[in-house]
Amino acid sequence: MAVRIEILKEDSKTRARLGKLHTPHGVIETPVFMPVGTQATVKTMTPEELKELGAGIILSNTYHLFLRPGHELIRDAGGLHAFMHWDGAILTDSGGFQVFSLGDLRKITEEGVEFRSHIDGSKRFLSPEIATQVQMALGSDIVMAFDECTPYPATREYAKASLERTTRWLKRCKETLITTDRQALFGIVQGSMYEDLRKQSAAEITELDLPGYAIGGLSVGEPKELMYEVLDYTVPLLPKDRPRYLMGVGSPDALIEGVMRGIDMFDCVLPTRIARNGTALTRYGKVVVRNAESAHDFSPLDPTCDCYTCKNYSRAYLRHLIKADEILGLRLMTIHNLRFLTNLMAEIREAIKEDRLPEYRHKFFSDYGYFN
Ligand code: GUN
Ligand code: ZN
Repeated sequence: MAVRIEILKEDSKTRARLGKLHTPHGVIETPVFMPVGTQATVKTMTPEELKELGAGIILSNTYHLFLRPGHELIRDAGGLHAFMHWDGAILTDSGGFQVFSLGDLRKITEEGVEFRSHIDGSKRFLSPEIATQVQMALGSDIVMAFDECTPYPATREYAKASLERTTRWLKRCKETLITTDRQALFGIVQGSMYEDLRKQSAAEITELDLPGYAIGGLSVGEPKELMYEVLDYTVPLLPKDRPRYLMGVGSPDALIEGVMRGIDMFDCVLPTRIARNGTALTRYGKVVVRNAESAHDFSPLDPTCDCYTCKNYSRAYLRHLIKADEILGLRLMTIHNLRFLTNLMAEIREAIKEDRLPEYRHKFFSDYGYFN
């Protein structure tokens, strides 16, 4: 198998697991957060900088690379790893999420989804076959199934029809992917916020005996407590010996809650996106560097952080860069937020190792201001 998880420890007090994800581009300690590099770049970061921050796996997007520059060009470059000069692991999302967020610009049929390009308005088409072929051309280590991320809220009827189509599409993805030891297909469990539908979806998808499974259709506008409830009953339906990936989740509190419920992998644009509009994640909660209170503050973003930004720059300087629209400001903020999350995941892994994850969670939440 191209990708497999080695479980090193199961927590005795929670469902958390400590593991190693083996991929053709390196071994990654889990639970892990994957930075997002939508357009074959984690915005503002060089691959060397990402490595130094502790990132071993990143996510990129089929939808965007299919439209621009086109997967044939990336294949001709030698694949996505060579094209973007990243020798770590890459997971590509299938486009199932982006295409469905286009609203009126798309038409869904059993065959696939017709949509208008957000770049030039041209008519384009993605199907399970095409999304898989695009990801084969990209050469990502982990290929995500082409699914429908069911919108929230959804009626039972819609959610059921949608998850059943996702299962049929998954079978077509599996038939399209030429089995190699370089690429692994992950299936995606849907079913909205309905327990019996999540059960049905998990049963249908795990039936296909894939190298990994994701939980989709969460963090789509539902209350966080509801997402945790869905995880409580969905994660135990997935096989213990396969990686479990919670799609689109990356706020510090949700990372901890997800790990406690048995998730191994996460991704989210949040840390990099908010960095670029001047918001830092810190141990003591979010800091909006743009705000006036940082104007005369010569302390670092987070005094406990070991990143390049915190070691060398003050909040006042960062605020100045952001307000003056200087590119260095975007870079320094991104370095910090990504390092903050890789440190958080490393601390979580250490806490699992030492059987103190619930205590770690309590301390983290009280420092973060989550209990106030
Ligand atoms: N990203 C966040 N949620 C989802 C989902 O349900 N499906 C896919 N393909 N990507 C996602
Ligand atoms: Zn920092």
